[in-house]
Amino acid sequence: EIVGDQVERAPVVTVMGHVDHGKTSLLDYIRETRVAAGESGGITQHIGAYHVETGHGMVSFLDTPGHAAFTAMRARGAQLTDIVILVVAADDGVMPQTEEAVNHAKSAGVPLVIAVNKIDKEEADPDRVKNELAQRDVIPEDWGGDVQFVNVSAKTGEGIDALLDAVLLQSELLELKAVPDAAGRGVVVESRLDKGRGPVATLLVQNGTLKQGDIVLAGLQYGRVRAMLDENGAPVKSAGPSIPVEILGLDGTPGAGDEFTVVSNEKKAREVAMFRQGKYREIKLQRQQQ
Ligand code: GTP
Ligand code: NA
Ligand code: MG
Repeated sequence: EIVGDQVERAPVVTVMGHVDHGKTSLLDYIRETRVAAGESGGITQHIGAYHVETGHGMVSFLDTPGHAAFTAMRARGAQLTDIVILVVAADDGVMPQTEEAVNHAKSAGVPLVIAVNKIDKEEADPDRVKNELAQRDVIPEDWGGDVQFVNVSAKTGEGIDALLDAVLLQSELLELKAVPDAAGRGVVVESRLDKGRGPVATLLVQNGTLKQGDIVLAGLQYGRVRAMLDENGAPVKSAGPSIPVEILGLDGTPGAGDEFTVVSNEKKAREVAMFRQGKYREIKLQRQQQ
């Protein structure tokens, strides 16, 4: 297998925070104002994964729910990301899922950038947010720590440019690299069974390039990539490092967080998938038939 050179890759940024603190609104604002005309179109709500040309470089975002029930999803979000944007509503302050997100980011070893949101509100108290987070060992830069805090409003757009600058600055410090010229591999963000199209999986490519027609082994599933779609539902032929993409063609729905790899041999892929599914008898039969 020919393996190409390492090149810079876009940061993967997970947006976390307490319920209703404005994570999705923030991403909506960024996408409406930053997604190049022509790339736009209907937004697929069920994919929490988007890539955006910011004008300072490309960023891939993963949105996460803030509801208390989705702890596992947030933990996963923190594990497959380079940076966490922690959204804290300035009129509400640090709440249980804010703390939870801090802990996920810390245990995953992922740097935080704090978006102090809803700064447009009269009740907004950004200093209180700083105090409350500092008490949890998230120390703002201007207090001698190493965490960037940016006041933003997802409603007016105030501060969002500065937030993207902060994210890209953090990203430069991480010196993120990948090899685009290699077999695609990465992680399953989510998957579902679509009535018309069969299993649909959202994959985040972490290294290499995933192409239409590739044979993919994803968790317990395998299949040939029949079609690939971006987050707007537009067809794409390939996806390189840090790019999230929807694929059709798997024989089932892999688990969120499962790893995926592109393999060269379809028979082998089927056998590995069957092995992982515990279908030992079927593998034996298949081998006898060959
Ligand atoms: P979950 O995904 O359910 O955790 O919520 P979320 O964090 O994604 O929050 P969401 O974007 O759904 O926003 C919650 C509410 O806050 C909505 O009514 C938004 O319109 C409002 N909101 C979000 N950002 C701002 C802001 O900057 N200013 C004001 N005034 N309202 C905001
Ligand atoms: Na909400
Ligand atoms: Mg949301």
